[in-house]
Amino acid sequence: MKATAVLAPGILVLLFTLVQKSNGECKEALVKSKMNVNMQYQLPNFTAETPIQNVVSHKHHIYLGAINYLYVLNDKDLQKVAEYKTGPVLEHPDCFPCQNCSHKANLSGGVWKDNINMALLVDTYYDDQLISCGSVHRGTCQRHVLPPDNTANIQSEVHCMYSPQADEEPSQCPDCVVSALGTKVLLSEKDRFINFFVGNTINSSYLPDHSLHSISVRRLKETQDGFKFLTDQSYIDVLPEFRDSYPIKYVHAFESNHFIYFLTVQRETLDAQTFHTRIIRFCSVDSGLHSYMEMPLECILTEKRRKRSTREEVFNILQAAYVSKPGTQLAKQIGANLNDDILYGVFAQSKPDSVEPMNRSAVCAFPVKYVNEFFNKIVNKNNVRCLQHFYGPNHEHCFNRDYGVDKYNNV
Ligand SMILES: *[C@@H]1O[C@H](CO)[C@@H](O)[C@H](O)[C@H]1NC(C)=O
Ligand SMILES: *[C@@H]1O[C@H](CO)[C@@H](O)[C@H](O)[C@H]1NC(C)=O
Ligand SMILES: *[C@@H]1O[C@H](CO)[C@@H](O)[C@H](O)[C@H]1NC(C)=O
Ligand SMILES: *[C@@H]1O[C@H](CO)[C@@H](O)[C@H](O)[C@H]1NC(C)=O
Ligand SMILES: *[C@@H]1O[C@H](CO)[C@@H](O)[C@H](O)[C@H]1NC(C)=O
Repeated sequence: MKATAVLAPGILVLLFTLVQKSNGECKEALVKSKMNVNMQYQLPNFTAETPIQNVVSHKHHIYLGAINYLYVLNDKDLQKVAEYKTGPVLEHPDCFPCQNCSHKANLSGGVWKDNINMALLVDTYYDDQLISCGSVHRGTCQRHVLPPDNTANIQSEVHCMYSPQADEEPSQCPDCVVSALGTKVLLSEKDRFINFFVGNTINSSYLPDHSLHSISVRRLKETQDGFKFLTDQSYIDVLPEFRDSYPIKYVHAFESNHFIYFLTVQRETLDAQTFHTRIIRFCSVDSGLHSYMEMPLECILTEKRRKRSTREEVFNILQAAYVSKPGTQLAKQIGANLNDDILYGVFAQSKPDSVEPMNRSAVCAFPVKYVNEFFNKIVNKNNVRCLQHFYGPNHEHCFNRDYGVDKYNNV
């Protein structure tokens, strides 16, 4: 039996569903909505010159990461209070990230590239600062220190988070953080250090991929001019032979009670055509990703029908997620406490053998403690498998890793 065929089918119970059509539990929600869809509302709004990729809010301002621009808006009326130009950027093979290469514009080999915002984060540990990572300059980041008296000012103090190291192998580049093909970055403070947890889509035609990792943890240096990997096991990469046939889309990342979680959409197995959603978990203090595990996450709509028959509909691909506490009613309904973390996910049904969503979607709410129970069950039953996209079909390679079998779980 091929290991890849032993998919333990989805785990997570459907706990709460909202579907576009009105049925079952959704009726009440629809009735409560007082929004009159036939009326035109005038709402505060802001229109950017270029497409917006990321939004974060911090102290009465909303920061937007867009193509070639960062914007700062007032959180009351969405009026623009500042903007900062991040591109287009001249990229040249002889030019390091963060160098201004404009003077090389007329040399051959230089290309002007739009800077797509790939990650936008607020850090309040060292200084209050906005960190933005773009699609140019090998996925490096810049930090904009926000002056305490004017947190809208993103241009008075801008630093590059890149420091070339003489002894460093080019494939290491810990300062190359984000992939232009897709990324999710989670910033977390632990033991007086800032760690960046990063999930990147990589493939063979994306040039800087030799310096980017699929999933990684890196520490921000105290000098804040770059990062370091604490060990050579601080990153795991999809094997080169699977990079083009087995893309992984990182949809969301969050932290809850000493664990880091990533949510992905990927093929069900290395040779499957169908896609599903997975949840990844590892310890937040784990600088070597030794506790890395993943399993499928399913959002299932169960419709009870007459004569005990039920219809099940699976929403296979996660589109967006958010972690928050439940309200009292939901908590009661799903057996959670008011201070439990709940993962809310918007799931769609994909077109056959595709990651493109169709027009139906559902919201599922998963108490994170139940997710942990499932992970623990898998470990306790020793029901773990090698992750083939990371370690190949030769299981020995995976199981020979000295941190033990039980740390790895394939689906
Ligand atoms: C956007 O704001 C302007 C005023 O700044 C207003 O005239 C317009 O109706 C708003 N648009 C929407 C869709 O609310
Ligand atoms: C780069 O240098 C050119 C002059 O060589 C200058 O006009 C431009 O503003 C600089 N760009 C940045 C982002 O500093
Ligand atoms: C590049 O060449 C054009 C015309 O050939 C010239 O106008 C421009 O100033 C040059 N730019 C630089 C940075 O040398
Ligand atoms: C890599 O990903 C990009 C963006 O999705 C795509 O255009 C390109 O064709 C991919 N390359 C390969 C070899 O799959
Ligand atoms: C959703 O897609 C289905 C199949 O493509 C189509 O029959 C249906 O009309 C669509 N519904 C809406 C609301 O667009």
